[in-house]
Amino acid sequence: MELPFAESYKIKMVEPLRRSTREERIQWIKEAKYNLFNLRSDQVFIDLLTDSGTGAMSDRQWSALMMGDESYAGASSYFNLKESIQKIFGMEYFLPTHQGRAAENVLFSTLVKSGDIVPGNSHFDTTKGHIEFRHGKAVDCTIDEAFVTEMEHPFKGNIDLTKLEKVLSSYPAEKIPMIIVTVTCNTSGGQPVSMKNIREVKEMAVKYGVPVCFDSARFAENAYFIKLREEGYQNKTIKEIVFEMYSYADMMTMSSKKDGIVNMGGFIALRSQQIFRDAAVYNIMFEGFITYGGMSGRDMNALAVGLMESTEFEYLETRIKQIEYLGQKLIEFGIPIQRPIGGHAVFIDAKKFLPSVPKEEYIAQTLAIEVYIEGGIRGVEIGTLLADRDPESRENRYPALELLRLAIPRRVYTNNHMDVIAVALKNVWDRRDNIKTGYKILYEAPIMRHFTVELDKI
Ligand code: F0G
Repeated sequence: MELPFAESYKIKMVEPLRRSTREERIQWIKEAKYNLFNLRSDQVFIDLLTDSGTGAMSDRQWSALMMGDESYAGASSYFNLKESIQKIFGMEYFLPTHQGRAAENVLFSTLVKSGDIVPGNSHFDTTKGHIEFRHGKAVDCTIDEAFVTEMEHPFKGNIDLTKLEKVLSSYPAEKIPMIIVTVTCNTSGGQPVSMKNIREVKEMAVKYGVPVCFDSARFAENAYFIKLREEGYQNKTIKEIVFEMYSYADMMTMSSKKDGIVNMGGFIALRSQQIFRDAAVYNIMFEGFITYGGMSGRDMNALAVGLMESTEFEYLETRIKQIEYLGQKLIEFGIPIQRPIGGHAVFIDAKKFLPSVPKEEYIAQTLAIEVYIEGGIRGVEIGTLLADRDPESRENRYPALELLRLAIPRRVYTNNHMDVIAVALKNVWDRRDNIKTGYKILYEAPIMRHFTVELDKI
């Protein structure tokens, strides 16, 4: 008999979880104004709000942490991180920042001006926020297949080259500061971009004289999918695949809270000394001196190790098989999810799950609230609340997909937790015909409203 699969690690430290009652949860979510970001973590049993900064560090990371060098300038921790970044991405220059959106803030302060156009594959909300904040425009060039949840496609994060060329040929190169390739593409369901697509985007970028920037939060998960799904990569190591991916990038922003497996941190890496120098000015203003940029030395040390660990095949296999395990359970129950199952999360198609709830009443948010009440499980809406209003017309933007994302933290939960999640979803699925109305907004912020929105039941 073939031995079954098991995790490539064992557990050394644990954190207690508290179960709650349905009555408590009904009260708590009401007090939270039906915004799951407003819940206290002890009101949540299984927290799938995000896989960002919620992972468990390894013993090697914790021991590296103890060796952190907290010197203001020239800390050894900075050089440890620089060495990891050079080894993994092959980029000469780097600037630490306190998280991914800070990297966006610094780089876009340097490169994005009012009226600029930034094409890419379904820009993440902070990325789009930082572009729109500067009165630029993010143009989504993701392939159409990404928006048909039941359609199987190995690389739903891919950029549609026809859409991209239309943008590149419609504006002068000076108006297009960069093309952003998000690996994996969070907004389209944690879906990877193929090496072929990355290469073709780079070729087109060179033709039009526009640089390519990778939004790199889940770069290692992207490489794992290339290894599994793309012809010619089966025998390459994850590190070789990552190195090739980044050979097609001019620069990168990184949220280290994902595939850096640390709780806080980010960075910019790039090849151009000129852009590095320009960005360093903003880094010093917004983040900190160029050798710490908002990170403590101990955190840079832990990240230097985390990047090496997240690019090991065994780690990625354990992680992605767990997401697959949960996704398969949901498929068995007949629950409509984004196919194929993504790298960091399972995305539930809320429009198909709750067909009676009108889109004006926030379908995916309605589902997120039901799942919380059912099992104390906190997911996140990737739908109309997140899509926000059009900056000019101020009308709600209704995205093609209304998704409930169940993001799985790295090395945190066991498959027993996955079983609880699946059954909670099934219970909501079984009573879905009774869920016909959603929510209305009582308060919203002018930008990135989903974090602080206040809602009431209709
Ligand atoms: N880019 C992508 C693709 C992301 O998913 C995120 C964050 C960021 C940039 C910003 O990084 O949070 O470190 O400032 N995504 C988190 C999530 C918040 O839950 O998906 P950050």
